[in-house]
Amino acid sequence: MAEVFVSVLIISGIAAALALILVFCESIIQNYGPCKITINGKKELTVEGGKPLLSSLRERKIFLPSACGGRGTCGVCKCKVLSGAGPVLPTETPFLDAKEQKENIRLSCQVKVKNDIAIEIPDALFFIQQYQVTLTAVEDLTYDMKRFRFELTEPAEMEFVAGQYVQITCPSYQQGVEEVDRAYSIASDPKDNHFIDLIVRRVPNGICTVWMFDYLKIGDRVQMTGPYGEFRISNAQTPMIFIAGGSGMAPFVSILHQMKNSGSKRKAEYFFGGNTVRDLCLSEQMAKFEKTLADFKFIPVVSRPAPEDKWNGQTGLVTEAVKRTYTDVSGYEGYLCGSPGMIDASIKVLMELGMAKERIFYDKFA
Ligand SMILES: Cc1cc2nc3c(=O)[nH]c(=O)nc-3n(C[C@H](O)[C@H](O)[C@H](O)COP(=O)(O)OP(=O)(O)OC[C@H]3O[C@@H](n4cnc5c(N)ncnc54)[C@H](O)[C@@H]3O)c2cc1C
Ligand code: FES
Repeated sequence: MAEVFVSVLIISGIAAALALILVFCESIIQNYGPCKITINGKKELTVEGGKPLLSSLRERKIFLPSACGGRGTCGVCKCKVLSGAGPVLPTETPFLDAKEQKENIRLSCQVKVKNDIAIEIPDALFFIQQYQVTLTAVEDLTYDMKRFRFELTEPAEMEFVAGQYVQITCPSYQQGVEEVDRAYSIASDPKDNHFIDLIVRRVPNGICTVWMFDYLKIGDRVQMTGPYGEFRISNAQTPMIFIAGGSGMAPFVSILHQMKNSGSKRKAEYFFGGNTVRDLCLSEQMAKFEKTLADFKFIPVVSRPAPEDKWNGQTGLVTEAVKRTYTDVSGYEGYLCGSPGMIDASIKVLMELGMAKERIFYDKFA
């Protein structure tokens, strides 16, 4: 019996020693030491090697868009890497077309900093800041959508253009759930820039939305970064078609506020789709915009109205409503927001109706 015990002890000792040697070797092999990141040929940062480029930049307060929080699923963290990145990884190729690959565009969350590296990013990204915000109000919009109001505490104001989005940091609120960042379009008036409203749709078992709906309480302090994104209305006077579904409503609330603030006379027709009447929201606010804006029309579209809804508005898919309304949209601009499926279907319909691709702008909530 004693012999068995001693043998087990020896084997365990050898296993522990081997594990220690492995950890030691790994720390030597993977110890890349300090690495230099040169940005736009003018700014130099020294970071500890071994981490993804995205998080290395973030630690130094340079925030690249990263809607999926670095999981390699959104493709928005692109930047040009001039040298030092190694070959393109299979995790990057689905997001990079041939032209981007030729131009050395990479997903910054997939590129590891292992040596000195030179990158190019748009100058606008230097203006993205981290904000401490406090949740001050929550409003039910539908059975699965809420509007969250955050007051900016430090810094106290965020300059943004209607259509842009922020990234909110969802803390590790449960065992096994790691801290993540998620993107949410700003749904508030750019004039009231000490508040940020977000319209969020609950995703069953979604890390961030479950936290926002079930854990986040009024008075809680949260971190966000922003503003990000190029989605915004152009300066042209061309009439516009807006198309959205669900929480895709968010940027349009901000855009409509901005149009009102600037006294815009532009024609805008807004098709908002829901499966049932229960999915529609903000009808009263939209009715107010119809009264205050010179040429704005809100067109809710319900794909499956129940008989008890007594719905007498537009029915079917939002794209079908667009097809019924127009025969030629070549003189319009299109602005779309929501699920990738709805956006792809809308782009197809708008192009079939004569809209040039360059006149279609969108943010996919991927
Ligand atoms: C630029 C941009 C702007 C965005 N703006 C908004 C906004 O204003 N309001 C808003 O509610 N969301 C918005 N999103 C989506 C948001 O960033 C999150 O992806 C979404 O809230 C889900 O996050 P989660 O952590 O709860 O779910 P996750 O933990 O990321 O996902 C859980 C599971 O649900 C699936 N899933 C993820 N997203 C969805 C979805 N939308 N519908 C169904 N299944 C999904 C995933 O594939 C996964 O299997 C935006 C996204 C982008 C890229
Ligand atoms: S952050 Fe989403 S792919 Fe890189």
